[in-house]
Amino acid sequence: MYGVETLVHPDYQGYGIGGVLMERRFECARQLNLRGIVGGSLIKDYHKVADRFTPDAYVAELVAGRLFDSNLSKQIKKGFKPLNTIPNYTEYPGSLNYAIAIVWDNPAYRAPEPKIIPFPDAESLRAGGSSIAL
Ligand SMILES: CC(C)(COP(=O)(O)OP(=O)(O)OC[C@H]1O[C@@H](n2cnc3c(N)ncnc32)[C@H](O)[C@@H]1OP(=O)(O)O)[C@@H](O)C(=O)NCCC(=O)NCCS
Repeated sequence: MYGVETLVHPDYQGYGIGGVLMERRFECARQLNLRGIVGGSLIKDYHKVADRFTPDAYVAELVAGRLFDSNLSKQIKKGFKPLNTIPNYTEYPGSLNYAIAIVWDNPAYRAPEPKIIPFPDAESLRAGGSSIAL
């Protein structure tokens, strides 16, 4: 599943609403037996420390809990893992246009059984018909 924008009104951020929305997405992925969820996360507060950290180093600080980003840190806390930096993701001054690809792996995902298609026998091939039951 690709996760498009999740927004909580600024007056209500930090009260668990965004977390519940993320958990509902996890539940949806579990019910549909999806491998997981991917998204692009804006590092909204990166501009504050961009003179000291590259985007990759910034993310390492967030993962270690030494810095807090008002977007990505919350997603990390809910179980998303940062994968790689995406430059020029969108025009957003706070993140200097960077985003981070994030992924949540569904621990309940079960790969479907492979479907075995029987090879037609010579007689049905000669007859030109298809006797393959799919
Ligand atoms: C990102 C966003 C959706 C999160 O919604 P929210 O309601 O603020 O998030 P929550 O209050 O549920 O917090 C999520 C987690 O971060 C933690 N958290 C929130 N504020 C925190 C803070 N100041 N310090 C440390 N942890 C914090 C919460 O405890 C929660 O983790 P938990 O469930 O383990 O306790 C919201 O901040 C938002 O709309 N941001 C602007 C739009 C945006 O950037 N959307 C994402 C686009 S990719």
